[in-house]
Amino acid sequence: MKFFVDTAEIDAIAELNDLGMVDGVTTNPSLIKKSGRDIIEVTKEICDLVDGPVSAEVTAVDADTMIAEGRKLVEIAENIAVKVPLTWDGLKACKALSDDGHMVNVTLCFSANQALLAAKAGATFISPFIGRLDDINLDGMDLIADIRTIYDNYGFDTQILAASIRSANHVLESARIGADVMTAPPAVIKSMINHPLTDKGLATFLEDIKAADIKIL
Ligand code: E4P
Repeated sequence: MKFFVDTAEIDAIAELNDLGMVDGVTTNPSLIKKSGRDIIEVTKEICDLVDGPVSAEVTAVDADTMIAEGRKLVEIAENIAVKVPLTWDGLKACKALSDDGHMVNVTLCFSANQALLAAKAGATFISPFIGRLDDINLDGMDLIADIRTIYDNYGFDTQILAASIRSANHVLESARIGADVMTAPPAVIKSMINHPLTDKGLATFLEDIKAADIKIL
């Protein structure tokens, strides 16, 4: 499973990248707003840091302007994936940009039928939003499973990018189902290491090291 980091915070990306945990980055207008940075400037910095795909989202809602914005975004770096919303205009932009050979991430996916349309429009990535479905008492994991089944039934190359991940359990379930990629905030990725028995076991070992004065160096 590929790990993308869902943030526009350079320091947080760099920290995880140094550990080999970053296969790509996703941003969206809310994350750009939170960073307080210019979209072009911060996206370029992210692309300089990370080798894998970096999703940058268009701001327009009509296809022609989305295509023009996409063509500007891909000039930032070779690893840009243009992020477009799951609307008919977004799919039109997806088709045009993917026909040009650019990576496209179709975002705001909340149904398997939407994911089927995105795959047919040539999407590189489809982003089903797990957490936002859970927020309205639906099961985001059912959506990931349905898309996995449909894409496998017909051999679509579009990669399932599990998004809106809010917990380590979301990562685990997405991996079990076979999502190709997951994107999560740095704090969620960091929380994946937590286990009370690891903490307890290490505390016991440290006590014994002290008691027996065990030294290696
Ligand atoms: C993905 O590309 C989105 O940026 C992100 O995962 C949305 O997550 P949220 O629902 O927690 O805002």
